Amino acid sequence: SDIEKGTYPHYMLKEIDEQPSVVRKIIQAYENEQGELAIDPAIAEALHEADRLYIIAAGTSYHAGLVGKEYFEKIARIPVEVHISSEFGYNMPLLSEKPLFIFITQSGETADSRQVLVKIKELGYPTLTITNVPGSTLSREADYTMLLHAGPEIAVASTKAYVAQVAVLAIAAYVEAKSQRIEVNFDLKKELAIVANAIQSIVDSKEVFEIASKDYLSTTRNAFFIGRNIDYCVSVEGALKLKEISYIQAEGFAGGELKHGTIALIEEGTPVIALVTQKSVSLNIRGNVKEVTARGANPCIISMEGMEQDGDAIVLPQVHPLLTPLMSVVPLQLISYYAALYRGCDVDKPRNLAKSVTVE
Ligand code: G6P
Repeated sequence: SDIEKGTYPHYMLKEIDEQPSVVRKIIQAYENEQGELAIDPAIAEALHEADRLYIIAAGTSYHAGLVGKEYFEKIARIPVEVHISSEFGYNMPLLSEKPLFIFITQSGETADSRQVLVKIKELGYPTLTITNVPGSTLSREADYTMLLHAGPEIAVASTKAYVAQVAVLAIAAYVEAKSQRIEVNFDLKKELAIVANAIQSIVDSKEVFEIASKDYLSTTRNAFFIGRNIDYCVSVEGALKLKEISYIQAEGFAGGELKHGTIALIEEGTPVIALVTQKSVSLNIRGNVKEVTARGANPCIISMEGMEQDGDAIVLPQVHPLLTPLMSVVPLQLISYYAALYRGCDVDKPRNLAKSVTVE
């Protein structure tokens, strides 16, 4: 069944492996009878009515929200703000006239997110929950729900739910853009199928990531993840994954920001994992890699076919530039997994963490 580990040593590894099928399942779940991507017309209407989207989430779901902002703004041209639930509760920004609140939550039970939902309902604004759990508290209490169809996620560190969240956000933005007759120059359904295959090829070559993890992370005290543009959104998620399960101190940075302070922490051998999947900023991020390498860092460049260079540690298959987060997060999940294994950590149940935090 879905919640058995089977032959897997850990749920996390099983859930990483399920990601290609999760993407395929989402394509099917959001297909209409004509085989086109579609969403609930009431949700399409709510997106259409909104002058601004407020994405509210915690942890990994917040990181998916950062990618969601890119999608809604770039594909559907709706302005978006992304907020951490626990902050939003007492520090509400000035709201637009017609906000739509989108709660992203794997469990649908996170108390920090729920307290925002309760407040927003009191104010009378429309709400949408994007969750993996039908019937969960945030699903029941919001006006609308979009499901992730990722199947039960047992490992505390979220993997397939993140990929599902990003895929569903892409679909929502894409369908909204189409319905507004905004020109979209790609076929999302086709591109998501390409992503599913790309993820498959990554999870089929685990040795590569096991070795990279050993090379870069087996003895280090800390690690940095850098990226620009949409790669930055993924770098913070990569850092979170590593912290959660291996207890290595890690931070994700926008490529250009590291030099404004944190570069002081770079020592001989400090791993700096750089994502290079965005052509428009690839020279800039490679420049940042040179800066840290000159100060002794051990650079691990993860690039993509079409923009790879000699010396890149990992070259990922080519996918649509907006969809890279769905794929580039997977090597980061895998290197974190192996780092946790080497260090003898409890991969599925890291210390001090809970799968779903139901206290504020
Ligand atoms: C907990 C988990 C994280 C998760 C966060 C948000 O802190 O340990 O992995 O990202 O809650 O959970 P949610 O269910 O709201 O997505």
